[in-house]
Amino acid sequence: MNSLKALTDSYYNVDSLEKYIDLNRISQSDPESFWSTIAERNFSWRKKWDKVLDWNKEESTVKWFEGAKLNITENCIDRHLASKGDKTAIIWESNDPTEAAQHISYKELSIRVNKMANVLKNNGAKKGDRICIYLPMIPELSVALLACARIGAIHSVVFAGFSAAAVASRINDADCKMVITSDGSYRGAKKLNLKSIVDEALENCPIVETVLVANRTNLDVEMKAGRDRWLEKELSYAEETCEAEEMDAEDPLFVLYTSGSTGKPKGMVHTTAGYMVYTAFSFKNVFQYKDGDIYWCTADIGWITGHSYILYGPLLNGATTIIFEGVPSYPDYGRFWEIIEKYKVNQFYTAPTAIRALANQDIDFVNKHDLSSLKVLGSVGEPINEEAWHWYNDNIGKKKAPIVDTWWQTETGGIMISPIPFVTPTKPTFATLPLPGIQPALMDEEGKEIQGNSTAGRLCIKFPWPSMARTVYGDHQRYIDTYFSAYKGMYFTGDGALRDEVGYYRITGRVDDVVIVSGHNLGTAPIENAINEHPAVAESAIIGFPHDIKGNALAGFIILKDETRNPENLQKEINNLISSSIGPIAKLDRIHFVSGLPKTRSGKIMRRILRKVSSNEMENLGDTSTLLDPSIVDEIIEKVKEVL
Ligand code: WT7
Repeated sequence: MNSLKALTDSYYNVDSLEKYIDLNRISQSDPESFWSTIAERNFSWRKKWDKVLDWNKEESTVKWFEGAKLNITENCIDRHLASKGDKTAIIWESNDPTEAAQHISYKELSIRVNKMANVLKNNGAKKGDRICIYLPMIPELSVALLACARIGAIHSVVFAGFSAAAVASRINDADCKMVITSDGSYRGAKKLNLKSIVDEALENCPIVETVLVANRTNLDVEMKAGRDRWLEKELSYAEETCEAEEMDAEDPLFVLYTSGSTGKPKGMVHTTAGYMVYTAFSFKNVFQYKDGDIYWCTADIGWITGHSYILYGPLLNGATTIIFEGVPSYPDYGRFWEIIEKYKVNQFYTAPTAIRALANQDIDFVNKHDLSSLKVLGSVGEPINEEAWHWYNDNIGKKKAPIVDTWWQTETGGIMISPIPFVTPTKPTFATLPLPGIQPALMDEEGKEIQGNSTAGRLCIKFPWPSMARTVYGDHQRYIDTYFSAYKGMYFTGDGALRDEVGYYRITGRVDDVVIVSGHNLGTAPIENAINEHPAVAESAIIGFPHDIKGNALAGFIILKDETRNPENLQKEINNLISSSIGPIAKLDRIHFVSGLPKTRSGKIMRRILRKVSSNEMENLGDTSTLLDPSIVDEIIEKVKEVL
């Protein structure tokens, strides 16, 4: 057995089972030495920390590397310049396969980030300000995040598929005074007008002073005098160097919103040093990235996967990372495979919903392309079902590229449970083992930890890790209530999981009112709130049910005030309402108009019954004796059967 003293630089890369077992043991017996060793040897610090971990269980506050000074962009960019200045940092692939790709070297990225940082400063942004970024997957998006980090501004990226109302609520929640957007965006054959969505949002955001607009589509947009500026023009006279702001380890790096079980989205706050250390370490190990490899994650930078594993994790490792603007189906369903062949991609990271959609197409779309460069395949966002796992393994990895089924969350900042390729033997549908430094626990309904293997429970994490979200922006009590109240002193994930006979984890899905649709995390409460705004609606309940491609789809059970309306028109109006208050991703696949909902005597809707009926499990509805009116269940079964 190696002691901590024997840790060498090579331990940054966990490349054998022996090392994994060793590091796992060390990281649990002495987490502080473990993380400080990793931190010390692999990053550039302006000043080292005074204390590795400060954990206050009573107040649910966690600080890592307190007292350290750094700037994450110096770690993502500057420190690579001497040895890798000409290496490609980012390959940008357009939505349109005939448009030239961009190969942005570390040197060029440095100039672009510094210039953009100066543009932000010239427009009044400073350390600690929140800046909303609402951009399509163009290089300016990644440059904008890094430019914020360069000057110490806190980026709050909003996925460019969200509606004006959703943008406005996120801007207001974080008091952003600047927005960075573009005239429009391309998604497959569609051209969307993003600027008009921002304009609509800003009608309700009085605090926003400046909007920087990138030109992507040459769409005609309205530029509000005194507020809106073209980004290209601002960049044309910006200086090429911008001194990086010195940040404290615990200064916020970004806010990113995730849906919760109440109407209001939660702004998860991630801080600088811990996030940096953990995303770098996990990227290196989960993808076994080697110098010269080409890495591609198909997520959008608007989600945490994009933050951590398109941008920060890869750049911290001096990697080459692909940013793809388009969609898997345009110009045809061979696009992903074409891109893998074009760039000889070595690590490919995507979502089960994309895998299922692509597996449904003619296999010629795959077989036309040479995929032999692939070494590692990743999956993220929702449980990957057995069929999709095998299709991915057989047809894409040709049984030679291990699949890393990575479980994590917006809140965790980085991958928590995942195989390490060529180290951990994989098992279909299992995320397998925690990464070193991560201590999962399964809890029973009484709040006790379940020991031993071959068991199932609610998934918690027992000990802090560097990239955990520190708080909910502006509402620490909500952070405590959501994550640290169910189980004393532990982080509760909201997921259920099982542990097999050797200790491998399989994540079985959410145990709260969040539904994962096509890999997107959607709270049912905000959707219900949106529907209840409709004048004809009295009450509604939203649940998720299994769907072949999306993993889960949404069904709404709706009680009407006005039953004279045409049901088809109403269904359209309800979905339009959801689209405009949240976004098209939250639209309902099924809408049932019912005369009542299955409520308990205390007035709580028993969603379990709606879920079971919608999943075609009518036979085992469980105990319905506490229902106020059990006969309503028969009506609901009838209504659902009409669409099955
Ligand atoms: C929820 C978090 C983390 C990046 C994308 C989603 C589900 C995520 C897996 C997986 C089973 C998974 C969980 C989790 N989830 N990855 N490999 N296997 N479930 O981030 O939007 O914050 O959603 O996604 O339910 O709690 P997110």
